[in-house]
Parts: sequence; C-alpha cells; structure tokens
Amino acid sequence: MGFDGRIALVTGAAGGIGGAIATAMAGLGARVAVADVDGDGAARLAGGIGGLAVPMDVRDEESVRAGFARATAELGPVDVVVHAAGVVGGGGPLLTIPVDALDTVLAVNVRGTFLVTRAAAEAMSGRGGAIVHISSAGAVQPTVGLGHYEASKAAVNALTRSAALEFAPLGVRVNAVAPGPVETPLTAAALASPEARAFWTERIPLGRVATTADLVPAVLLLASPDSAHITGTVLPIDGGQLLKG
Ligand SMILES: NC(=O)c1ccc[n+]([C@@H]2O[C@H](COP(=O)([O-])OP(=O)(O)OC[C@H]3O[C@@H](n4cnc5c(N)ncnc54)[C@H](O)[C@@H]3O)[C@@H](O)[C@H]2O)c1
Repeated sequence: MGFDGRIALVTGAAGGIGGAIATAMAGLGARVAVADVDGDGAARLAGGIGGLAVPMDVRDEESVRAGFARATAELGPVDVVVHAAGVVGGGGPLLTIPVDALDTVLAVNVRGTFLVTRAAAEAMSGRGGAIVHISSAGAVQPTVGLGHYEASKAAVNALTRSAALEFAPLGVRVNAVAPGPVETPLTAAALASPEARAFWTERIPLGRVATTADLVPAVLLLASPDSAHITGTVLPIDGGQLLKG
C-alpha cells in the first residue's frame, strides 16, 4: 500500500482506533507521529512502535499547529493524517442532557476536525496527501441518548466533503470511515452489560460489534496511494447496521 518511508500523523493515537491504525502503519514502514491530548498514552504507544509522541489538544489551534510543526521537523513532511481523536461526552435524552455535553463534543469532534484538517492541508499543500476522518454511523442513524454526539459526527461528514472539494486542487484527498460500535476504551462502559451488548448486536446484521482490526484495512486503503481517485467519501464499516434504518 505504499506506506514504507511515508510520514503519518495520527490523532487520538493513544486510544483504541487511533492506536490500532498507528500501529498498523508503523508495521508497514511508515514513520508515525502519535498525537494525543493524553501525553503519557501517546508516549507509551510511540515507544512501542518506534514513533514520535506528539502531545496535541485538537481543540486548540496553537497546539495543533505546534504538533504538526514538531512532526514535520522531526520526521519530515506529513503525507498522511488519520484523525481519530474524539469523545462522546456522556449521553442522555435531548430534553435533559446538559448543554455542556454538547459543547464538549462540538469542541473536540467538530472544532478539532476543522483545525486538524486545515493544518493537515497546509502541511501537505504542494506535495499532496491523504486525510482520513473517523466519523460514525450515528451521523446518519439516530440512537436515543446520543443526539449531541450524532450532531457532531454529521458535522464531521460535512467537513469531509467540504474539505475534499476545497483541497482537491492541492492534491489532498479527504475521506472518512463511519463505524458502528467498536470495542475500545470509549465503549467499554456502554458495552459492559449483557443487555447493552445485546441491544447493539441485534442492530447489526453481521451479528457482532466491530473490533479495531475490522477498521484498519479500510482506513489504510483510504490513506494510501491505492485510493488515488477516491475523495469525499464516507465509508460505513458497521456490519450492515445502516441497512436496518
Ligand atoms: N468506539 C466506537 O464504538 C466508535 C464508533 C464510531 C466512531 N468512533 C470514533 O472513533 C474515534 C476514536 O474512538 P475510540 O473508540 O478509539 O476512542 P478512545 O477513547 O479509545 O480514543 C480516543 C482518543 O482521543 C483522544 N482525545 C480526546 N480528546 C482529545 C483532544 N482534545 N485532543 C487530542 N486527543 C483527544 C483520547 O485521549 C483518546 O486517546 C472517535 O472519533 C470516535 O468518536 C468510535
């Protein structure tokens, strides 16, 4: 897939999905900047895969700029950005969920995607590159209690398409994957009870919650030169969940 010697920056790389992608890219020979607001977690993963830990708060423009500058200075010009930093920020019915929960997800998931995508395009301009967002099936399929999060992921889909259109002349492709539930620290509590797991599993025609390994091949494809003519797509990786409406 052409990752050998390429420079990748993965946000949320101390987490489940970002960590799996950073590890896979490093295994294919990429030099990976492991970016996360959790500096210790980033350092742990970077140590394990021979990457560069980059403390980065995606809500903060200066922090994002500094993180890209550090990755470029220490590894070289960034070819690939996978943006996996994200939060759910609690949950609850729209009538009662605290407005703070909305503010939290908008700050990380929307503002963060905006800032990271812009910084990535600036870093890639003139050389080209690929950006992959981690959206969610929830962007188009509601679940009671997750409306605030779903709104943020619908915005991620919109930013994916807007950025794909605007950055195409720069040679920068922008795509997203939209997972259903995935086994990660983010969902550990939500999937802990047998009832909760059954709720999700019954919605998925292929009959199980995803693992991070289910996501890696599609993200690698969208990040690699093999998908040179694909931009502006949002690819569901959901075991058929969206088929059920
Ligand atoms: N796990 C799922 O079921 C699932 C499903 C669909 C989409 N997603 C999306 O996938 C992405 C990754 O989720 P995950 O399951 O790996 O979660 P995770 O909690 O395991 O990892 C998320 C990572 O993002 C980091 N992060 C949070 N706020 C940040 C900030 N302000 N700046 C930088 N980093 C920050 C966290 O420290 C963490 O390491 C998220 O965008 C999430 O919304 C997850």
